[in-house]
Amino acid sequence: MSSTEGKVIKCKAAVAWAKDQPLSIEEIEVDPPKSREVRVKIRATGVCHTDVSGKRAILPFVRFPAVLGHEAAGVVESVGSAVTSFHVGDHVLTIFLPHCQQCPACKSPDQNLCEKFMVPSESVGLLFDGTTRMRCNGKTLYHFLGTSTYSEYTVVDESQVVKVNKAAPLDKISILSCGVATGYGSPIKICKVKPGSTCAVFGLGTVGLGAVMGCRVQGAKRIFGIDINKDKEEIARTFGVTDFLNPNDHQKPIHEVLIEATGGGCDFTFECIGIPEVLQSAINACKTGGQSAIVGVPAEGKTVTFDPYKLLYGRVWTGGFYGGFKPKNDVPGLVDDYMQKKIMLDEFISTTMPIDDVNKSFDLLLQGKIVKAVLYFNSGDFK
Ligand code: APR
Ligand code: ZN
Repeated sequence: MSSTEGKVIKCKAAVAWAKDQPLSIEEIEVDPPKSREVRVKIRATGVCHTDVSGKRAILPFVRFPAVLGHEAAGVVESVGSAVTSFHVGDHVLTIFLPHCQQCPACKSPDQNLCEKFMVPSESVGLLFDGTTRMRCNGKTLYHFLGTSTYSEYTVVDESQVVKVNKAAPLDKISILSCGVATGYGSPIKICKVKPGSTCAVFGLGTVGLGAVMGCRVQGAKRIFGIDINKDKEEIARTFGVTDFLNPNDHQKPIHEVLIEATGGGCDFTFECIGIPEVLQSAINACKTGGQSAIVGVPAEGKTVTFDPYKLLYGRVWTGGFYGGFKPKNDVPGLVDDYMQKKIMLDEFISTTMPIDDVNKSFDLLLQGKIVKAVLYFNSGDFK
C-alpha cells in the first residue's frame, strides 16, 4: 500500500486551457481511482504529433480544458477496488486504445478496435463512468484519450494500462505507447508485408520510421522514404530506408516518380502523416494488386477523392489504429523485443526534457528539428 492510496494527490501537470494556447504548468488535484481504474505515477511521456493536433483542436477527441499526453510509462501508485490484474509498484504503459478483453473486437484475433474506443462525442474527455478525476483551481480538467499523461499522476481505466517487464527502462519504452507501435505494426499486422517486397513510407516522423522498421523486419527488399524535410534522410537510412525522396526535388507528382523508379509501382505504401493529398499519392503509388495503409490521423472532417479504377484493378486500401496491435497481448512482447535488441527505440529519441519545457518540445516537433521528445517530471525519473 502506498501512503497516498485513497487520497487526492496534488501534483504538477501541463494544462491546455483552451484551443491553440500554450500549455501551462499548474498544480492540479488528481482523485483516487474508481473501482476498475488505476492511478499511475508517470515517469516518462513522449510528445506525439497527436498531442500537438489535440492542442490545435483539429481532432475529434479533445475537450478543453484538457490534460493532454497519451504516450507514457509509469508505476502503479494505487488501484481501484475491483482491479485484480495490477498491483502497487507494477511498471505499466498507458495506451490510448483500450483492450477490454470482453467485446467482440477484443475476442476476435483479427481486429483491435475495442468497443470502448468508440466513444460518442458527448463522452469526449470523460472516463468510462462519465466523470473526470482531475481539477485545477476548482475547475474540471478533461482527460485526453483516456490517458492524460502530461500530469505527474493520472487515473486510467484498467483496459488502457499494460503491465511490462520491470527491467525495461521506462523512458525508452514509453514511446511504444503510441507512435512507434503505430508505425511498426502497420507492415506487420495490418498489411503483412511479404519478404522481398518494395515498400514506400510517406512521412518520416516517429510513426513513419516505425513503419520503416516494420517493413525491414518483414524482409522488404527496397524501402522508399518520402519526406519534405531533407534532414530526415540520414536518420531514415539508419532505420532501413534504401531510397529517400523529397517531393520538393521533383517536378512530377511523387507517385509518378515512385511508379517510374519501381517499374510499375510499390507492393505496399504507408501514409504516416494524415494529409488527404498524401493519402491519394500513397494509393496512386501502388502497383496493381498492391496495398496502401492509412496510418497517420487526418484532421477532423477531411475527405479524400480517388479514382475507383485504382481499387477495381485489385489495389487494397486499408488502415488501422495502433498498428493493428492488441495492447495487452502484444505490448509486453514489444518491450521484450526491445530488451533483446530486436527493435530500435533509443534511436527515435532526439531529446529529453522536463515537463516544464513541453511547449518548446511541441515547437521543435513542428519545426522538424526532432523525431521524438520524451518528457519527465523529476530529473531522477529515468533511473
Ligand atoms: N509530404 C511528405 N512528408 C511530409 C509532408 C508532405 N506533404 N508533410 C509533412 N511531412 C513529414 C514531416 O516533415 C515529418 O517528418 O511528415 C513527418 C511527420 O512526422 P511527425 O510530425 O514527427 O509526426 P508523427 O508523430 O510521426 O505522427 C504522424 O501520425 O499519430 C499520427 O497524429 C499523428 O497524424 C500524425 C501522424
Ligand atoms: Zn474490447
